[in-house]
Amino acid sequence: MLNWDDALVGLGPRAADKSTKAATREAEFSQTKSENARSDISTGATGLEAIEMGARRIQVDDKRIINCRADLNQLVPFKYQWAWQKYLDACANHWMPQEINMNADIALWKSQNGLTEDERTVIKRNLGFFTTADSLVANNLVLAVYRHITNPECRQYLLRQAFEEALHTHAYQYVVESLAMDEGEVFNMYREVPAVARKAEWALPFTQHLGDPHFRTGTPQNDQKLLRELIAFYVVFEGIFFYVGFTQVLSMGRRNKMTGTAEQFQYILRDESMHMNFGIDVINQIKIENPDLWTDDFKREIIAMIREAVDIEIQYACDTMPRGILGLNAGMFREYLQFIANRRCIQIGLPEQYPSVGNPFPWMSEILDLKKEKNFFETRVTEYQTGGTLNWD
Ligand SMILES: [Fe+2]
Ligand SMILES: [Fe+2]
Repeated sequence: MLNWDDALVGLGPRAADKSTKAATREAEFSQTKSENARSDISTGATGLEAIEMGARRIQVDDKRIINCRADLNQLVPFKYQWAWQKYLDACANHWMPQEINMNADIALWKSQNGLTEDERTVIKRNLGFFTTADSLVANNLVLAVYRHITNPECRQYLLRQAFEEALHTHAYQYVVESLAMDEGEVFNMYREVPAVARKAEWALPFTQHLGDPHFRTGTPQNDQKLLRELIAFYVVFEGIFFYVGFTQVLSMGRRNKMTGTAEQFQYILRDESMHMNFGIDVINQIKIENPDLWTDDFKREIIAMIREAVDIEIQYACDTMPRGILGLNAGMFREYLQFIANRRCIQIGLPEQYPSVGNPFPWMSEILDLKKEKNFFETRVTEYQTGGTLNWD
């Protein structure tokens, strides 16, 4: 199998004899291309290939989510309208952490009797988890996933998602700073507090293949690795591991406690819900285009992965809320996570795993429904500078 990086490195001495950099690049590229032609695997394009003057124009049917060789620098013609629409929806949903008023939170956090110790633990543990979890998601996206998704409209959404992950880390940092928390304590929790560490530890092995610079898709085995790692991050990490924390913090907001923090989490939850739905669309489209990947063995493996994730997240609920607070208890979270896992399974074409469970937190679904939130755009405290008002000095 061709190793792209080795091919380039191996050309070093010959390339040095050429008089111009362009000639060097051309030599490297044609060498790599001929190596590729000899290889029995059809790796996807990257978008960084040499320009082919006068090449046939791209048709919709040339486009594929993975292993596509068509030019990735041309956004149109669109093939996956859902990806472009999600990009537009995400942009229409834009927000910034500083827009949210944190004054009530600052007063409550500073006051002696404003919050119980258990409530403080919930806030601190969740900030501890999310501050680093969103960086992990962003790094996985940029350094692992992006390279292997060979479709420009999907990449357009991935770029937007990457920016949103940066906003989320910014939001958590903003809360930590506003509340004058010990930032070292919060940002190190994922390697000092086992309950926080466990989920990141679970996820990290699922970035190893895609993040390996030598990894290439194009064989059924490697395409399954890609699918597995997409499911681990989009369906489990963003689709299950975020939900206890979101529910805990949003439920405090519903009881008028830490309302600014809860509002930050509310915007983040909306973004995350769209990330997960985008990931599910990508996963399902890969399945449609590569039906041989979705074997019975693979399905069993994914079901086991989702069930394990539910157990880990139930443990997280118990660890962050040992005595139960705000009318919530671990049993409710068990049911909620099983309810969510059933939905995730159906969304990617797997059977429900937990019969007859209900949703103990129906208000979470209402928060997710953008149309029901009338004040979404009305509660903002700042306006954006747009083209006409930007100061260029
Ligand atoms: Fe995020
Ligand atoms: Fe996300």
